[in-house]
Amino acid sequence: MMKRLLIAAVGLTAALLGDARAADKLDASCANCHALVKPTDASLDRLLARKGPDLWYAGNKFNADWLTAWLQDPKPIRPVGYPYFKTIVQGTEHDVADPTKVVAHPKLAKAAAEAATAELMKLKGPADLVTAGAFKGDAAGARMGALAFTKLRGCVACHQGEEGKGGASGPSLTEAGLRLQPDFIAAYTADPQRFDPHVWMPTLNLKDQDIQRLTAYLSQQGRGGK
Ligand code: HEC
Ligand code: HEC
Repeated sequence: MMKRLLIAAVGLTAALLGDARAADKLDASCANCHALVKPTDASLDRLLARKGPDLWYAGNKFNADWLTAWLQDPKPIRPVGYPYFKTIVQGTEHDVADPTKVVAHPKLAKAAAEAATAELMKLKGPADLVTAGAFKGDAAGARMGALAFTKLRGCVACHQGEEGKGGASGPSLTEAGLRLQPDFIAAYTADPQRFDPHVWMPTLNLKDQDIQRLTAYLSQQGRGGK
């Protein structure tokens, strides 16, 4: 019994250390702008001072192929920079990005991008953050999902689901199917505050059917309808 407990404890420590080591193996510069381990500071100040999106659950969030490609050729995902409230200026018709405040992301060479991807994919949140099977895989809901996204549930106010159509205060989701794991899309849509207590995406108390349909729609974006 004792022995088993001991083994379990060693296993747990090894898992936690694994995360810390993965974070250490990434270039130190990444940690200047990204949280690579779950921050203990959950204050609003941290969100306001943040220079880049959190990556401590990157392994639950991204598709590895997308990461490797993006790190070599990082095109903007948040259309007006990050965080948007620091880059936005009032335009004549609507808010527009101040281009001097949108900084280009550091670019990695192929080998470095592959190495960074391997480490990023090891960064995971607690087991219940994104549960396997959160998206039940029913692609047939995608058409209703598109309707929910653009009309019924108002996601389009903050996100683009299609190029050029939608708000800019949330990340673009035009390539969500290439970029994000479906289980992550479902978990985040259900309860964004579990990932980020102060994020300005509302928890919309959606029914599971809505979440499944929205996920079916988003996980096709960027994949040419597949
Ligand atoms: C000067 C600050 C800065 C540094 C240094 C930096 N990043 Fe970023 N990173 C950002 C910002 C800002 C974004 C958001 C870009 C966007 O949405 O268009 C971002 C986005 C990302 C994303 C996509 C995240 C998402 O949720 O969409 C990944 C992955 C990433 N960075 C990895 C890295 C890695 C790996 C390193 C180290 C080699 C690194 N970054 C260094 C600021 C930085
Ligand atoms: C009031 C604005 C707002 C609305 C409305 C909104 N979101 Fe978001 N959403 C955000 C913000 C802000 C983020 C995360 C910011 C960041 O990481 O830069 C986000 C993140 C996400 C993410 C994770 C993407 C990523 O790259 O990290 C998904 C998936 C998502 N939203 C889906 C939805 C869906 C589906 C709806 C409609 C049911 C919706 N959102 C409605 C603002 C919004």
